[in-house]
Amino acid sequence: MRKPIIAGNWKMNLTPSEAKALITELIPLAANAACDVVVCPPFVDLALAVELTRGTSIGVGAQNIHWAPKGAFTGEISASMLKEIGVGYAIIGHSERRQYFGETDATVNSRAKAAIEAGITPIICVGESLAQREGNETEAIVSGQVKAALEGIPAQAVAALVIAYEPIWAIGTGKTATDEQANETVGTIRATVAQLYGQATADALRIQYGGSMNPKNVKGLMAQSEIDGGLIGGASLSAADFAQVIHY
Ligand code: PGA
Repeated sequence: MRKPIIAGNWKMNLTPSEAKALITELIPLAANAACDVVVCPPFVDLALAVELTRGTSIGVGAQNIHWAPKGAFTGEISASMLKEIGVGYAIIGHSERRQYFGETDATVNSRAKAAIEAGITPIICVGESLAQREGNETEAIVSGQVKAALEGIPAQAVAALVIAYEPIWAIGTGKTATDEQANETVGTIRATVAQLYGQATADALRIQYGGSMNPKNVKGLMAQSEIDGGLIGGASLSAADFAQVIHY
């Protein structure tokens, strides 16, 4: 059985003092969660988040990671930097990075490899645009993104990582995929992994749904056979809402 994993993607929100307040409020609320709980604050909040969550069951993730160990990459953060402060996860290839910052399938793959090498669990994001869904391209787009992201990564590492299926049209729009739509595409992702690595690896891999997941719709989505958790944007910025989501 796969243990569900619910992660909060704070995006570019919450200063260190605001992060401290949210995490302090969240810790008792998350204490007996049945799923793995992760918060992914901006880089400047990460060290503080690790300190605050030490000894709790809350994990901490970054929102990006660079593929090189160090060097002339102004504005980037390496895996060893994140590892040294105790970060356990890294969101990779979020659609906002792909859309606004030139992230490609190739850079997603490089970033995922660097994370794995450092012992940081990648949360690799894939998902189609509205035009792609309406053009019946969802399956081809999403499985293509998965194949490219995983290229050259061994099965053992694939079994341990997390993929987030995030239809772009559902992110921050209040428009969620239906339970069935989400389950179907998450199933496509698992089938793609099975094709590449075999069924055992596909069955071990955890796949989240993301896109306007909130206290109201979490239960239906989490009841789906293929969905193993959520990547939560807006609803993760309130400890009370995020707590409701993790206790779906
Ligand atoms: P949302 O964001 O929950 O605000 O739609 C999800 C995400 O982008 O990870």
